Amino acid sequence: MDKLLINGGKKLKGTIDISGSKNAALPIIVAAGILGQSKSIITNVPHLTDVKMLCSLLEKLGAKTHLDNNQLTIEPIDQTSYEAPYDLVRKMRASIYVLGPLLARMGRAKVSFPGGCAIGPRPIDLHLEGLKRLGAKIEVLGGYIDAHADSLQGTDVYLKGIFGASVGATANVMMAATLGQGTTTIRPAACEPHITDLARFLIKMGASIEGVGTTELKIHGVNSLNGTHHSVLSDDIETGTFMVAAAMTKGDLFLKGANRAQVQAVTEKLVQIGVKMSWQNDGVRIWVDRQLNPTDVRTDVYPGFPTDMQAQIMGLLSLVSGVSVITETIHQDRFMHVAELNRLGANIRVDGNMAVIHGVSQLSGAPVMASDLRAGIVLVLGGLAAQGQTLVSRVYHIDRGYEKVEAKLSAVGADIRRLNT
Ligand code: UD1
Repeated sequence: MDKLLINGGKKLKGTIDISGSKNAALPIIVAAGILGQSKSIITNVPHLTDVKMLCSLLEKLGAKTHLDNNQLTIEPIDQTSYEAPYDLVRKMRASIYVLGPLLARMGRAKVSFPGGCAIGPRPIDLHLEGLKRLGAKIEVLGGYIDAHADSLQGTDVYLKGIFGASVGATANVMMAATLGQGTTTIRPAACEPHITDLARFLIKMGASIEGVGTTELKIHGVNSLNGTHHSVLSDDIETGTFMVAAAMTKGDLFLKGANRAQVQAVTEKLVQIGVKMSWQNDGVRIWVDRQLNPTDVRTDVYPGFPTDMQAQIMGLLSLVSGVSVITETIHQDRFMHVAELNRLGANIRVDGNMAVIHGVSQLSGAPVMASDLRAGIVLVLGGLAAQGQTLVSRVYHIDRGYEKVEAKLSAVGADIRRLNT
């Protein structure tokens, strides 16, 4: 299993190109591969293990995919299979995205029930309830969700869980409703940037969707969707992560391709902490020229502070003198990185869904272990800022969501290399 070896203490300086968004690319690939009736060409697709695994799943369902230089060509399924098997679904939770589209296109879907993960139990009740509202008959048997529907019927669908409107359920129900009869209203709908990009892609395929970018989506069913061309929007979480990398190493980075509107909650918070930022047409420059201030952060649904940036901002605050408090409201148990950050010398205590951070003046390198994607990247950030050597293991978590991470960081002065052990 690969490890990342980091000699910390180097200020990062230079330009990093921001990749396409993982969380936008995944449902768009599913829509192209299952809902479309002709070839789609999708550009700005990040080379990530999650993308490769999803392509393998679509191939298993009968689609053809070819990824070359961030351009993905997809020939959609030819209605041969409706079963997403356990050995593929268990590797990636986003595989649940095939459920609604298979049901809409083929009237049948048999998808392995995704398990929990290191950030909490992550149920899919809202996905199933939403599809049932559209008329699907759903049974869970032998670890599989077995869903049937002669046709899906538009109606009002309520997708709010105790943590806010579900991102995944919004994507699943929206995709299914595009080929349903009549009008489906999703209220409240998630309006994260990747949901908006998915809606734009579906519209290019011929779907009729109103309210894109808002918490109320109206989808008027159409008979069929065609393949199209689309460029995936830039990754808001990768942008925020490299912003934090600049701040933690007291460096000076230009993030080319960063999209200002998508990262507003993160930039507001960083500016409040004292990080300097200058936006230009093609990206943003980030640097630090003074002592930073502690702060409080509460994760929330978009446009609030994203849970996927919670670990990274915690890494930064661990080096800011004073006391900061982070409240996690979206995922239960999303503090697996705390113990590992403390191994690097941070002083963080968890109480329920709150983490209290007493800033320290210095982190020091240590062997640490990634437990999930964002919990993994904050250890890389910690290692870059720390004095001495950090060895991050279980890098496969990081490879799920960060394209060429060590190449991008080395190019701006980090001393980081991959060990194949
Ligand atoms: C997506 C993102 C993930 C991000 C999350 C929140 C993708 C591939 N993943 O995940 O990176 O952290 O949004 O921004 O885009 N819930 C239920 N029942 C459900 C569905 C969700 O209770 O049926 C709960 C979840 O357990 C979680 C919360 O709602 O606690 C938010 O989940 P959701 O918005 O669905 O996130 P995902 O789509 O899984």
